This record gives sequence, C-alpha cells and structure tokens, in this order.
Amino acid sequence: MKKLQAPRGTLDVLPPDARRRRDILQVADEVLGRAGYEPMETPVFEDTELFARGVGESTDIVQKEMFTFEDKAGRSLTLRPEGTAGVCRAYIEHGMHKLPLPVKVWYAGPYFRHEAPQAGRYRQFTQIGAEAIGSDDPTLDAELILLLAEIFERSGTGPARLRLSSLGTPATRAEYVDELRTYLRAREGELSAEVRERLDQNPLRAFDADHAGTQAVMADAPRLVDRLSDEDAEHFADVRGLLDSAGLGYELDPTLVRGLDYYTRTVFEFESERLGAQAALGGGGRYDGLVEELGGPPTPGVGWAAGVERMLLAAGDAEQGRAADVFIASAEGTPDALVLAQLLRGAGYRTQMEQAGRGMKGQLKHANRLGAPVVVIVGGPEIEVKDMDSGEQRPAGSLEDAVSHVEELLR
Ligand code: HAM
Repeated sequence: MKKLQAPRGTLDVLPPDARRRRDILQVADEVLGRAGYEPMETPVFEDTELFARGVGESTDIVQKEMFTFEDKAGRSLTLRPEGTAGVCRAYIEHGMHKLPLPVKVWYAGPYFRHEAPQAGRYRQFTQIGAEAIGSDDPTLDAELILLLAEIFERSGTGPARLRLSSLGTPATRAEYVDELRTYLRAREGELSAEVRERLDQNPLRAFDADHAGTQAVMADAPRLVDRLSDEDAEHFADVRGLLDSAGLGYELDPTLVRGLDYYTRTVFEFESERLGAQAALGGGGRYDGLVEELGGPPTPGVGWAAGVERMLLAAGDAEQGRAADVFIASAEGTPDALVLAQLLRGAGYRTQMEQAGRGMKGQLKHANRLGAPVVVIVGGPEIEVKDMDSGEQRPAGSLEDAVSHVEELLR
C-alpha cells in the first residue's frame, strides 16, 4: 500500500507549534485592533484573472507559482497566492468606498505558491496581512510599518532589518523602466540569460539577480528613487520623517524589488538574520492603482503581509509552559475523578485526569511531566490534595473541600 504523506511543500502543525501560531494571531489581533484594523476574510480561491490582473502577468507568482484549476463549469480558479488582490476585489464588490475612509482591515489564513520547497518556503503557508484602503496619507504607510515592527517584537522574532524604498507612480516607473531597459540593452552581453529573457517584460528583475555579471552591471544602473516626481519624493520624505520621529531604524534600499506588480510609492521588507536564504519575514507597500486596475474607482491603498511560519522559525523554540494546573490521580473506575475535573475546570483551573490506565506511581510521574503543581488523589478511603513542590499531602472531606484546598494552593 502506498505510504500516505502530506503533499510536498505543506506542513502539519502539531502541538505545541499550533498553539504558538495562535499566540501570534492573538498578538496581531491586539496590536492591529488597537489601531482600528478590523478582521476580514476572503475566499481561499478566486477567479484566476484576479491575480493575473492584480499581481501582474509578468511576475514569477503568476507565471510559475499559481495552483490553478478548472471547476466543473470550466471556470479557471486559482488558490490565492497572496491576500491584497482578494481584499481589493471585495472592497469594490461590496462598495466599501462608501464606508468612512480609510477602510482598515487585517486577515490571516493559508496562501499557496508552487515554489521549490526549502526551509522557510512552502507551497501552503500562512500569512497575517493588513491593508488600509482609501487614503494616501503617509501616516498610514508609517503606521503600518510600525505596527508590523511591533508584532514582530511582541512575537519574539528577534532583530530584523527594515529595507525601505519608493517606486513612484506608474508613469514615472514606465519612463524609468524604458531608461533602465536601454541601459541594460547596451550591456546585454554581461547579463545572465534569465535577465536577458525578461528584458522586455520586466527589466527591474535584474536588481534581484544572483548572477555576478548582472550584479556588476546593476551597481551603476540608474535608480528609480532618483527619478521620482516632486510629489512622490515628498510623500516618501514624509514617510521617512514619520519613521524617524517614531525612532524606527531602516535602510534606504533603492534596489528593493517586490515580487508583485501592484506597488506604487512606498515599498518595504523586514528581513531576519535568523532566517537563511528565505530571510523576508514580511513586507508590503502602497498600491495606489490596484483598485482601479480591478475595475473600481481610483483608490489609494497600502498594506503588508508577514509569513507566520517564518516568524516562528525566527522566534525559535519557546519554553514549554505548564500543561495543567491540577492533575487528578485515581484508582481505575472512580467516577469521582471526572466529577472533580468538571468542578475544577468550572473554577477556571486547567485540569487533567488519568485516562490511560497508569498505576499510582506512573500517574504521579505523568503529573510531573505535565508540570501540574497540585495533584488530587481520589478513589481511596479519603480524598488527598498533594502539593507537588513541598510533597505535603492533606486530606479533603469532600470534592468541594478538595476544590477549596486546590484554590488555596494555587493562590
Ligand atoms: P509577499 O512579500 O509576497 O507579499 O509575502 C509576504 C510574506 O509572506 C513574505 O515576507 C514571507 O514571510 C511570506 N511568504 C511568501 N511566500 C512564502 C512561501 N512560499 N513560504 C512561506 N512564507 C512565504 C504579499 O503577499 C503582499 N500581499 C503583501 C502586501 C499586502 N502588500 C500590500 N499589502
């Protein structure tokens, strides 16, 4: 019989890791909630066209990495590779521009990219994302970056390098891309085959290349940040000024290329030294043309997403906390154990009881393993409450009395 395994590039999340993932979502909920971001959900699959138009035809994501399939009616659907396009589609579909602006939302869930799996890179992964739609106020760019930094900080992911740049508007970018293409054409012989192939479609990709010859050419290439319009340059200066006032350090990196086509103006990425080749913990930027591109009214937007698996990798193994406050040891077949467990759970204590037929010695050992500071022994001639630290054991007259002893010991 074929051995059944999780599909390539997917993860089973077992205890205690699944708990740690929830803790991260909890942190995100708190941090984003306090800043007025409300939870939002969109479908896990969408029309393929949404991503082709939203993320961009020339991106690796659309060209190589989408899980695309046909439904029974022959519609082309795609498992979402990212969240921004879906949120903007929903924003348009539900007329959310009529809400007080900006509309601030956050989301978390599974995303899918058909990439070569390696440490920190999966085919199904989890993102937390936040978006502020309907205003181009630079405080939104800065606020979102600060909130993401706070989420990383509170999740214990350790030091991260923040790279920041601005891409300007599509018009500036188009002019710049022509300039860059001309520059690269003149040096075609020194470029990698891959960059040469993409020269027409996306010469910006050359900044991403690992190829030494290409990197040498790029060192002297014209830079988009030097071509920004006055308005975009001012917006970028505002964002930087706000981050400076907030005391958040960043590196200006004009070579920062994001793998999605919708970005305008601000772009950023947080990288962790604790991660290997897949160092990006999270990133995002402004997408002032995306809603219009998807058929909505001209609407600015800004946001980010962070990879939860990478956050956990960067945070390392957490200490395992206490699994139970109380353990109920008992002789087999004592109905009292479950009754007492319910009483203690009702009083708010994490309570476990013997459910695998161990002997008394084995039960006490198991209580230790769970880290339970108190053990109640039932089923004998009397009920006993044992303080596991001191070893002191006291009798209890009834189950209710046992609860009072536990309360006293755990106070
Ligand atoms: P992204 O940079 O493509 O941005 O993805 C954000 C984060 O998701 C990455 O920094 C990384 O931590 C995680 N990630 C991406 N691909 C994988 C993978 N194959 N395995 C594990 N983790 C992965 C976006 O998705 C944009 N939607 C962000 C955004 C929101 N921009 C504006 N609003």
